Amino acid sequence: MNKIMGLIVALAVALGSGAFAGEVKSLRGSEANSPDTAPPVYKTLDGIKLERAYRQQPPLVPHDTAKYEIDSKVNQCLRCHEWPYSDQEKAPKISDAHYVDRNGARQDHVNGNRYFCKQCHVPQAETKPLVENNFQPSATAR
Ligand code: HEC
Ligand code: HEC
Repeated sequence: MNKIMGLIVALAVALGSGAFAGEVKSLRGSEANSPDTAPPVYKTLDGIKLERAYRQQPPLVPHDTAKYEIDSKVNQCLRCHEWPYSDQEKAPKISDAHYVDRNGARQDHVNGNRYFCKQCHVPQAETKPLVENNFQPSATAR
């Protein structure tokens, strides 16, 4: 019993002193227990429109989004993409799917499950994947 307790204490001390910390790294290369390095700011590919890689893909954003605030009070994306502003701003209108709640009921306002636009729509940029993968666009998209 004492031996086991001793091992547990030794392990706790080792973990507490960060003996293993150097071996664990985040995907961006920072060591465990140190603040993650900020991701680089990518330049948006403006003026061109990249194709969707599969039919259901949320379209990529063909403009910079850094200045547009989205929080519980303000959603600046809507000031251009929600009807009737979309007509005035000549921006594509969000589709009706953005007004449907999780039970399929249609609503007057953008549903909460579509409120945080950048959860699905990311700005177009030339980036290197953090994790290697062999994704290929859907065969029917080519
Ligand atoms: C000042 C008006 C304005 C604001 C604000 C704005 N957009 Fe746009 N957006 C546009 C216009 C105009 C287009 C049409 C493409 C173009 O000319 O860049 C567009 C295109 C898009 C598209 C491509 C749609 C498609 O069918 O391919 C997406 C997605 C998009 N915006 C998402 C966003 C998101 C997300 C935000 C908030 C972070 C946002 N937009 C804020 C004006 C705006
Ligand atoms: C849960 C994922 C998701 C979220 C969140 C979301 N969208 Fe979308 N969006 C999609 C998908 C998928 C499509 C393509 C299918 C469709 O049109 O419904 C789309 C389509 C669009 C289009 C193109 C519509 C068209 O007819 O060409 C625009 C513009 C757009 N979204 C803007 C927004 C804005 C602005 C927000 C935030 C208020 C937002 N989306 C939030 C998934 C999402």
